[in-house]
Amino acid sequence: MSTAWIDRQVLVTVGTGGVGKTTVAAALGLLGAAAGKRTLVVTIDPARRLADALGTGPLDHEPRPVPQAALAAAGVRARGALFATMLDTQRTFDDLVRRYAPDDETRERVFANPIYQHLTDALAGSREYSAMEQLHRLHGQGEWDLIVLDTPPAQHALDFLDAPRRLSGFLESQLLRVLLRPALAVGRRGFRLFRSGSQFALRVIERVTGLEFLRAISEFLFAFESMLGGFSERARAVETLLRDERTGFVLVVGPDAVQVRRAHEFWDRLARERIHLVGAVQNRVRRWPAREGPPSHDSAAQDEACVALRKALETVGAGGEADRMARELARMAARYASLAARDLALRRELSRALPVGEAEVRTIPLFAEDVHALEGLRRMAEALAR
Ligand SMILES: Nc1ncnc2c1ncn2[C@@H]1O[C@H](COP(=O)(O)OP(=O)(O)O)[C@@H](O)[C@H]1O
Ligand SMILES: [Mg+2]
Repeated sequence: MSTAWIDRQVLVTVGTGGVGKTTVAAALGLLGAAAGKRTLVVTIDPARRLADALGTGPLDHEPRPVPQAALAAAGVRARGALFATMLDTQRTFDDLVRRYAPDDETRERVFANPIYQHLTDALAGSREYSAMEQLHRLHGQGEWDLIVLDTPPAQHALDFLDAPRRLSGFLESQLLRVLLRPALAVGRRGFRLFRSGSQFALRVIERVTGLEFLRAISEFLFAFESMLGGFSERARAVETLLRDERTGFVLVVGPDAVQVRRAHEFWDRLARERIHLVGAVQNRVRRWPAREGPPSHDSAAQDEACVALRKALETVGAGGEADRMARELARMAARYASLAARDLALRRELSRALPVGEAEVRTIPLFAEDVHALEGLRRMAEALAR
């Protein structure tokens, strides 16, 4: 059970929400551990049962080991070790503030500021920013042969790449400063009345939100300003790490034509960003069990199958119900065959969309149940392995 994908030092799973990014990240981690690597999976929003199944105890900011006994019980012979951690956005920002605050007073002012306290939910992109920051921190520990980074749920697979830049851009933005200049004065020498007509908007904001809000923003920006340099420098270091040739991105898609069609956009964007793609995972694929693949729609074949099914059902004592059951089963099989045919066509389309000679597509079947135990993860890992 192995794959060339895990030869990278960092793997990042990306894709739109709900496609299986977190589960695929965990399965890749399992492959890393099986191959003898000291592997860390950084999850963002693991389903509760998945987190429980790892047996690490509550997942948090620090890496926790997945017990070897749990791996063995699920049939994984791990020559290496598997660790997992969960992103804690607030904690990540707090660590950054501690690190970059020029003095104790600034640090305490930022921590006490209500805007800062809501920063992590208030600002779009703060989760993505802290995911990258966490990657940077853990990579810097130099303890890991492989880090698999899961990414936050996004509407669009590329949101992950944009968000941190959007956030640091927002914090640094001149526009924000100009807009808030009158409010910034609050921090210095009390609130100044807005006079000019161009400040009408702020007057409205103030009326709606109250003076306290403006005061809090202004104080926050004052205190935060001294740390912006540090934040931006870290963001650049992470960008370098993401572009390193030892880092690879894995696009996860569902059996969804729109997602497959967008794969093109994704490769183009990665290429422009000089980020390396290792491949794509088509998840929740409906496979036709027979080697020759799903039959094309053919009513004569369906009738023939119905007759055979009815006979089989009669022999197991289905009696008068046999005919109705046979029809129902044949109808279900035909429906499944058409889904399997569609998934196969999408897989081919996805392969064609991949850059030639580099990345490849792996498929994971749709399992009858959610993948929430190590056993299910192992099956997923087997599907990913080549
Ligand atoms: N191949 C699959 N078969 C069945 N269930 C799956 C499969 N892949 C993922 N799941 C389930 O789908 C749900 C969403 O997966 P998750 O990895 O949390 O998605 P994401 O991180 O992309 O939002 C989870 O409950 C997971 O167990
Ligand atoms: Mg997830």
